[in-house]
Amino acid sequence: MPLLISNTIILMKKLTLLLFSSLLLTFTITNCKMSEKPTAKEVRGVMAKNGMVVTANPYASEIGLEILKKGGNAFDAAIAVQFALAVCYPRAGNIGGGGFLVYRKGDGEVGSLDFREKAPKSATKDMYLDSEKNYLSDLSKIGSLAVGVPGTVAGMAAMHKKLGTLPFADLVKPSVELAEKGLVLSEYDVGRFNKYQEDFEKANRFDIPLLKEGGWTKGDSIKYPDLAATLARIQEGGRDGFYKGKTADLLVAEMKAGNGIITHEDLEAYEAVWREPVVEKYQDDYRIISMPPPSSGGVALVQLLEGSEFFDFTAMGHNSAESIHVMTELQRRVYADRSTYLGDSDFYDVPMDWLLSADYLKERFGNIPMEQKTNSQDIKEGKVEVIESVETTHFSIVDKDGNAASITTTLNGNFGSKVMVKGGGFFLNNEMDDFSAKPGEPNMFGLVGAEANKIEPEKRMLSSMTPTIVEKNGELFMVVGTPGGATIITCVYQTIMNVIAHGMNIQEAVNAKKTHSQWLPDVVILEEGAVDSTVIEGLKALGHEIDYRPSLGRMEAILRLDDGTLEGAPDYTRGDDTALGF
Ligand code: DON
Repeated sequence: MPLLISNTIILMKKLTLLLFSSLLLTFTITNCKMSEKPTAKEVRGVMAKNGMVVTANPYASEIGLEILKKGGNAFDAAIAVQFALAVCYPRAGNIGGGGFLVYRKGDGEVGSLDFREKAPKSATKDMYLDSEKNYLSDLSKIGSLAVGVPGTVAGMAAMHKKLGTLPFADLVKPSVELAEKGLVLSEYDVGRFNKYQEDFEKANRFDIPLLKEGGWTKGDSIKYPDLAATLARIQEGGRDGFYKGKTADLLVAEMKAGNGIITHEDLEAYEAVWREPVVEKYQDDYRIISMPPPSSGGVALVQLLEGSEFFDFTAMGHNSAESIHVMTELQRRVYADRSTYLGDSDFYDVPMDWLLSADYLKERFGNIPMEQKTNSQDIKEGKVEVIESVETTHFSIVDKDGNAASITTTLNGNFGSKVMVKGGGFFLNNEMDDFSAKPGEPNMFGLVGAEANKIEPEKRMLSSMTPTIVEKNGELFMVVGTPGGATIITCVYQTIMNVIAHGMNIQEAVNAKKTHSQWLPDVVILEEGAVDSTVIEGLKALGHEIDYRPSLGRMEAILRLDDGTLEGAPDYTRGDDTALGF
């Protein structure tokens, strides 16, 4: 590297570090006043020895903690939390959506469960195109035709059968009670509810409980009687309480009332699938356990981490122009691969071994130029994703025996298709938008897909969700994940790097401002406050175009410290996220 650039980068690095430390201090002090949790000296998460639950919502964390205290394991608590989030966090928590579990048992066994939505049996490649093959983009986003066959309840039943210890009914009970008794809305809840009032009205044929004339105010309470009844049927009947009987009838009636195509046959045929997780070494001491296809997350995360091994990120420093440049170049190549080669491996032969092979990683990431950015157009393959806000949710749970559950779950967009099942009280996803509806046409995250992710009957749409567990020297080390569409992968990557390469504790790593880039658009996205003007100038000097987002990621993480203490790190600076341990 020329001396001048090198010196400039060192100077920028120092200034960035200075700015970052002062931002962190301001942050800490501000937050301290609000919650009195962290001290001004050091931001730390919640410490506990016997179990830890970290979710995006205090009601859900409380329910998870109660299950752990009753003697349930991490998987029991995770099932209870998944149902609770459907009540207290309806923008993303769900029974009408899907998700992924990555787990590690105390004895070291690892696995993953795919409860991703599927295309209905009568779905077709061109179902969102008109007769002249124009893409009717609203159809895959709002209303009944956008809905994939939900996987969550089948997922929870499968998880319970293999990993649970308490009776299934006991795990659903707290959510039935919460929906019946109601809950108090926070400022964040109210913001989301009010933003979507018009959409709720448009997409539904009845007044859903989230509609309120004049809008909601912080402190208002809300009850969900129909949802309580649906959850009670699941409590009683398990999987069949959703995929058969009254709930299934209501869901299919909702489809018929709109333009939906999910049938009873689709519901009965839905199965959650246990899959071999992506398991790869990172540096000498770490092992990454993450989600395989139909998520792109595990493959992309491992490519990023192993690609990072060609560089000295510790020396470059956190969020310096140099480190953001290198991350951007890695991400450009990873997202290019993602959009061409990743899809549902039950339908498309994903070349996982090749994408993760040492030879390929060296060829792909070993010669990244440090003097000037690469043009995305010069990188073959790959497409786009851009994210506007966080609409999925992640939770991390560890119990006293070291069992760990990492779950990311979603309706896709905020409140999914915005369609609530009449009489059922739950929102339906708009996950069909994660397919590539037409080659070259972007989906709601700006994603342009390819053959690997085209719509086919009963196929799962490609995901970016990256629930992840990291081991250190063969022991549980970190449980981590986040919402954020395409930014999920880069935020999980940075949180891991923040701890391992940049020496942050887990709460600092979660709180730290994130950056994002991908193959297209050819820009670097910075979370507001992530860097100062010298870093921005440094990036511009390397040819990067810059864009900004108010917020990136909503991490929910747990770190197991050397003495076995669990440090729960919720993303409380970006939402109501709460860690509870005992
Ligand atoms: O599976 C996926 O990748 C998307 N459906 C996730 C959507 C998401 O994270 C939206 N929130 N920002």
